[in-house]
Amino acid sequence: MNATFDTIKQRNEKVIMRTYGRYPLALARAKGARLYDSDGKEYVDLLAGIAVCGLGHCRPELAKVMAEQADKLVHVSNLFYQEEQIVLAEKLLSTCQADKVFFCNSGAEANEGAIKLARRYMAKVRGSAAREILTLEGSFHGRTLATLTATAQTGKIKDGFEPLPGGFRSVPFADACALRAAVNENTAAVMVETVQGEGGVRPLPPEFVEALLALRREKGFLIIVDEVQTGMGRTGRFWAHEHYGITPDIFTVAKGLANGLPMGAVLATDEVARGFEPGTHATTFGGGGVLSAVASKVIDIMREERLVERAAELGAFFLGEAGKLQAKHPDKIAHVRGLGLMLGIELAAPGQDIWRALLDAGFVCNLTHERVLRLLPPLTIAREDLSAFLTTLDTILANRPTA
Ligand SMILES: Cc1ncc(COP(=O)(O)O)c(C=O)c1O
Repeated sequence: MNATFDTIKQRNEKVIMRTYGRYPLALARAKGARLYDSDGKEYVDLLAGIAVCGLGHCRPELAKVMAEQADKLVHVSNLFYQEEQIVLAEKLLSTCQADKVFFCNSGAEANEGAIKLARRYMAKVRGSAAREILTLEGSFHGRTLATLTATAQTGKIKDGFEPLPGGFRSVPFADACALRAAVNENTAAVMVETVQGEGGVRPLPPEFVEALLALRREKGFLIIVDEVQTGMGRTGRFWAHEHYGITPDIFTVAKGLANGLPMGAVLATDEVARGFEPGTHATTFGGGGVLSAVASKVIDIMREERLVERAAELGAFFLGEAGKLQAKHPDKIAHVRGLGLMLGIELAAPGQDIWRALLDAGFVCNLTHERVLRLLPPLTIAREDLSAFLTTLDTILANRPTA
C-alpha cells in the first residue's frame, strides 16, 4: 500500500456508507481488458466490472454513440415514444423468443419487475390465486426487499432487514424431487439462474432443467430465468437458457446490456406481457436515449465481432487448460467449471492468499465462497491473457504448501 491509496481509502471511509468490502485497489483508468490503479500499475481485468463490460472498457465506438446521443436527447421520460428505445427492443427481441421488453435500471429492478409481472399475469390474465415464487438455494437475485427475499442465501444479505415480504420459498439446488414436492396451486413462478453466479459458478444440471420443464407443462406455473449475469453472450450463447432449450415465460438482463451504463430489462412472451397495462409498472429512467443508443451499439458490435462465438471458444480453451492445471495440482484445485467466459476454479481450501497473490501479480479476479476464483473477463479478452493467468496461478500454487 502507498500514500495515494491510503489517502483515497481514508477519504472513502469518511463519506461512503460501509456496504462494500472493497479490494485494496483504487482504479483510475481502464481500457480494453486492462485496469490502471492510482499509481499507474497495470492489471489484466478478468472481472469486467462483474460481467458488465463484455466489450472491454472505454470502447471508442461506444464513447462516440454516447457523446452524439448526449447532444441529441438524454432524458424526456416514458411519457413519450422514443425511437432509440424501440430500436433497442427490436434488436434484443431478434436475439431470443420473447415478444416484449420493459426497460429499467439494474438487475434487481429487472427481477423485481419479473416477479411483479408473474404475479399480475396470474391475478389478472389467468384469474388464478397463485402468487408464490420458488427459487433455488445458492441463488442471487438482487438487493431490493423482494429480490433479497427471493435470493436463497443465509447470512448478512437478509439479517436485520426483516420483516421480509411474503410469497417466496426456496428449494435445494438442482433437486428435482424437492421442487416437485414444493410446487402447489399457489406457485406462480419458479425463478432460476441457469448458471448461479454469486453462488459460485454453478451450472444447473440438464436433468434438473428437464424436470423443471416437465413440471411446468404439468402444473402451469411460469419460468423466470435470471440472465442478469449470464446474458449478453457471457456463456457462449447469447442467452444461457439456450444451452438448456428453455423457453422462459419471463427473463431478465442487466449487467452486460449497456457495457457499463446502468440498464436492465424484463423480457416476456406476448401472453405473459398481458399482465402489465398502462399505469401498473414504471420507472423514470428506464430506456432513456443514451442508454438505449449505447445498448443498441453493444448488440451491433457483438454481432460484428462474433463475441458470442468467441466466448464459447475461449471458454472451452480455458476449461481445457484449467483442467490440466487441476491434474497437476489435484490437492489444491478441487473443481474447474463454467460455461463460456463465466468461469470458476474451486480451490481445495480457502484461497484468500492465492487471490491476493494473483492481484499482486497483476490479475484481477473475484473470490466467492472463500474458495472459488471467479473469472468473468471481457468477451474481447486475448487468449494470451487467459494463458498468462493460468501460468501465474500455476506458479503460485506450486509455491504453496500442500493443503
Ligand atoms: C444473477 C443476478 N441477478 C441479479 C443481480 C442483481 O443485479 P444488480 O446488482 O444490477 O441489481 C445480480 C448481481 O450480481 C446477479 O448476478
